[in-house]
Amino acid sequence: MITDSLASTDLAELVRSAEAAFARTDTPADLENAKAQFLGKSGRVTELMKGMAQLSVDDKKTRGAAINQAKQAIEAALTARRQALADAELARQLKAQALDVTLPGRQRGTGGLHPVSLAWERIEQIFGSMGFDVGDGPEVENDWFNFTALNNPPNHPARSMQDTFYVDMQGEDGQPYCLRTHTSPMQIRYATAHARKHAAALAAGEIPEVRVIVPGRTYRVDNDATHSPMFHQVEGLWLGENVSFKDLKVTYLNFCKAFFETDDLILRFRPSYFPFTEPSAEIDIQFRTGPLAGKWLEVSGSGQVHPQVVRNMGLDPERFIGFAFGSGIDRLAMLRYGVNDLRQFFDGDIRFLSQFR
Ligand code: DAH
Repeated sequence: MITDSLASTDLAELVRSAEAAFARTDTPADLENAKAQFLGKSGRVTELMKGMAQLSVDDKKTRGAAINQAKQAIEAALTARRQALADAELARQLKAQALDVTLPGRQRGTGGLHPVSLAWERIEQIFGSMGFDVGDGPEVENDWFNFTALNNPPNHPARSMQDTFYVDMQGEDGQPYCLRTHTSPMQIRYATAHARKHAAALAAGEIPEVRVIVPGRTYRVDNDATHSPMFHQVEGLWLGENVSFKDLKVTYLNFCKAFFETDDLILRFRPSYFPFTEPSAEIDIQFRTGPLAGKWLEVSGSGQVHPQVVRNMGLDPERFIGFAFGSGIDRLAMLRYGVNDLRQFFDGDIRFLSQFR
């Protein structure tokens, strides 16, 4: 606003033209340029100040005061315009970044168990219901448990059945170490601990049964559609006074029926070789209905535990007899869920995994 005390109309006019110039700007940069025209070093207000040089002292006073008042009015207009531009910018940003509160919220994904974990849990449940304990053992294993105690001494040709990851360390036991190539070493570890625990009963001539499964990770130098360097096995061991192949067949068939949720299933033993069992057999199953019907599918190695292995457990092979088996958990999961490439289990592709939720 221009007050009456503004001495001359040229000043009122100057303030009005500054207001108009500021009003025409629509960015802070334009506004600063417009400001320079009025308040800058060679701006119009400064020129007016310079123009007072020839005035009398009294005139200088009144003129100076009037120019100052005009200057203040221009500064006030400038500040107001600055604020208006800032307000407009804020309003523009708020509009651009407006939240649409009607959009559905971002949901946190609910996870699910991995298909291998699902199979693993089913296996524990089913064998648990048949009276099997569930054991757990080290993945970095020494040579004695992984090979020698299982009747597979150094230089035995059966060692080359398994391509092994050796670990560059020697234990306090002086043994070489490897990533366990199977869960079978847990037969020895578990039965040895069992023998120690039941030493008194054993000394008294009793025969406390060993009945355990051991699911876990295993490692071999292998990589294709049906082999992965890390895979999962479940070991089974049942030793007692009179445990036979008949028990193995009933146990394993019942397991398969529960695991695959069908009674339309047959099982056969196919002669095989493992150093820790004699006789040894592969277990094949065949579905009689469903997408896999009619094909023999290999699901497990098995056999009657070799007397030397029973001895290595600290048990008497004259009193303890029984069977062992070793099955691929990934293989069982592939058959159950209809997966044809093992590697999909380990790629971590969420589109694949979410199908099992
Ligand atoms: N450990 C064997 C493997 O990885 C599988 C196996 C075969 C385990 C026979 C057993 C068995 O307990 O009796 O190839």
